[in-house]
Order: sequence, then structure tokens, then C-alpha cells
Amino acid sequence: MPVTILGIESSCDETAAAVLINGQIMSNVIAGQSVHEQYGGVVPELASRAHQANIVPVVTVALSRAGISLADLDAVAFTQGPGLLGALMVGTAYAKALAISLDIPLITVHHMQAHILAHLIEDPKPAFPFLCLTVSGGHTQIVRVNSAMDMAILGQTIDDAAGEAFDKCAKMLGLPYPGGPLIDKYAAQGNAQAFDFGEPKIQGLDFSFSGFKTSVLYFLQEQTKKNPDFVKNNLNDLCASVQRGIVEILLRKVKRAAKETGISRIAISGGVSANTALRKNLTDMGVALGWEVFIPKFEYCTDNAAMIAITGYQKFLAGAFARYDVVPMARIPGIYI
Ligand code: KG4
Ligand code: ZN
Repeated sequence: MPVTILGIESSCDETAAAVLINGQIMSNVIAGQSVHEQYGGVVPELASRAHQANIVPVVTVALSRAGISLADLDAVAFTQGPGLLGALMVGTAYAKALAISLDIPLITVHHMQAHILAHLIEDPKPAFPFLCLTVSGGHTQIVRVNSAMDMAILGQTIDDAAGEAFDKCAKMLGLPYPGGPLIDKYAAQGNAQAFDFGEPKIQGLDFSFSGFKTSVLYFLQEQTKKNPDFVKNNLNDLCASVQRGIVEILLRKVKRAAKETGISRIAISGGVSANTALRKNLTDMGVALGWEVFIPKFEYCTDNAAMIAITGYQKFLAGAFARYDVVPMARIPGIYI
């Protein structure tokens, strides 16, 4: 029997819907929210309002691109958390209403598990177990993925997430939000060895970015005192050097995790896995160390609903359905629900 699942994502500033039939993505629609650019970060109330305006059209387009109607759905999967509560409430209320009115199962999805299971959308898919570096605006984790439903966090950030580090450094360089992709863009023309911001000394497989960020801040303050045009004159080199610094912090721990676990299938996921230097340096490291490296397509790196639908499919097959009175959760400990 074919299984048709609608996935809904609304945890931050993307309203997204995707249709999956028998494990195949048939449509993947995303509405972004440019309203936050002028504020230098996501404004939760504005995000909720934009989700409210976008959710019906986004789902309508996802269904029509997949060539199906609501009556064809077998289940609705949605992001229960973690994320912004008001934003999550929009997706949750919509998914619940749909499931109740169609009398079909409702499936809750953990946003970070979904980023990892984005690797099951298309070939080549990593065999289990694999290690996944999950790097987004809110999280930085190294996860041992034993199966779609069994994962363990081996290390995580003790302060900022990698995406946050990119965005905050970008802000110091006068770039608008979200600055991560802009650092990536300017870095392409710059010298990554131009400046050195140091490496945090943090034990085990955990990460820290606050010292790195402070070091960038002090360096910029010192240089602009001497020359007010320092940032403008060195933007490309600054971006390339910041990018190198963050990527080095990430890959040092990935290398250590691979050595400690003996696992040589290495995947990356989350918004920061769209970063050019991270993708290239991980690929090079994989060749040098004999790893099998898995990097998702750009559209499955940043927030999307295809990853929610594929996670929903795994949970559908496992019979892991939610009650209709389920509520969103801004924080969910662990990596799956
Ligand atoms: O996974 P995601 O789309 O949303 C969250 O769940 O947070 O990740 C968003 C983060 C932002 O911090 C953004 O600046 C960063 O991913 N990002 C990048 C790039 N594309 C997105 N950072 C560096 N280079 C990129 N190309
Ligand atoms: Zn995300």
C-alpha cells in the first residue's frame, strides 16, 4: 500500500511543506521570511505572523506540485520542536487540525533528528552506524547514528552554535542577517590565512565558540581604532579567515570522534553544512583519512520540510504516532522524540 505523508516545518523563519510518497520526495516547498533582515536576527513575533500568512499557500502548493489532494494523505508529520514557540504553534495547530479533520495519524518530529535523517532522502545514503556533525543556527552536535530511531549525542556546543558564530561574526563585519551565507560568499575572494583568531581549548568532543567570537571582536576593535576603513578594505580576507577558524574548530572534533568511535562514515547536516569551506575541507579530510563522506544537497541542508516528511515516514513505519492533544515544545532534550 503506498504511503503518502505531508511534512510541515515551522520552527524558525522558514515555512515549509513537503509531500513524500513511499519514501520519495514529490514536492518540497519553502517560504522564507526576509522581514528579519533589517533587525539583525529572527524576531519571534514577526516569524509567527509570517508562518500564519504562509502556511496555507505553502501546503497548497506542495500538494499541487505532488499532484495529490488532501484526501490522498495517510499521515501528517510536523516539527514539534525545538524552536521558537510561537512559530512552532502555527505548524502544530495546522497539522493537528488537518489530521483530526482527515482522521489520519499525526506524527511529531524532532527538528534535529530530521536534519540528520535528511541523509535518507536520496542516494547515496550512509549505512548505519554513521557519525553526523549537525550544525545549524541553534545547535552544534556530533551524533552517533545507530539507526533512524536510535542516536546518541557524543558532543555539543557549551555556548554558541556554529551558525550563531557565523552570524554574529558577520554582524561585527557589518553584514545583514543571516550573515553565514554572506561570509561564505565573500570568503570565496579572500585569503583564509590572512588573520588568525585562535582555537578554543575545550576537552572531549564538545565545542565552544564564544572565545573565538570575542577574539574576532577585540581584533576588529583594535584594527578599526588604527584605521576606520579596516573592515571595508579587508572584508574578503576577514570573511575567509573567520570561515577557516570556525570550520577548523568543527573538523578537529569530527576527526577526534571518528578516531574514538572507529566509525569512518561521516555525514554533515543543518544550515551550516551548506558552507563551501566545510564541504570542501571535510571532503579533503575524508580522502586523506579514508572516510566515506556524506554531504546533503543544498536544499536539504537548511530548514526544509522534506526532512520532516522522511522522518515522519520512518516513524510511520515504526507505528510511532502522536496523540491529537500533543503540544509544541521550544526545547526538547536529546535528539529524537
Ligand atoms: O538549519 P538552519 O537552516 O536553521 C536552524 O535550524 O537554525 O541553519 C541556519 C544557520 C544560520 O546561522 C545561517 O547563517 C547558517 O545556517 N548558514 C550558513 C550557510 N548557509 C546557512 N553558514 C555558513 N555558510 C553558509 N553557506
Ligand atoms: Zn534547522
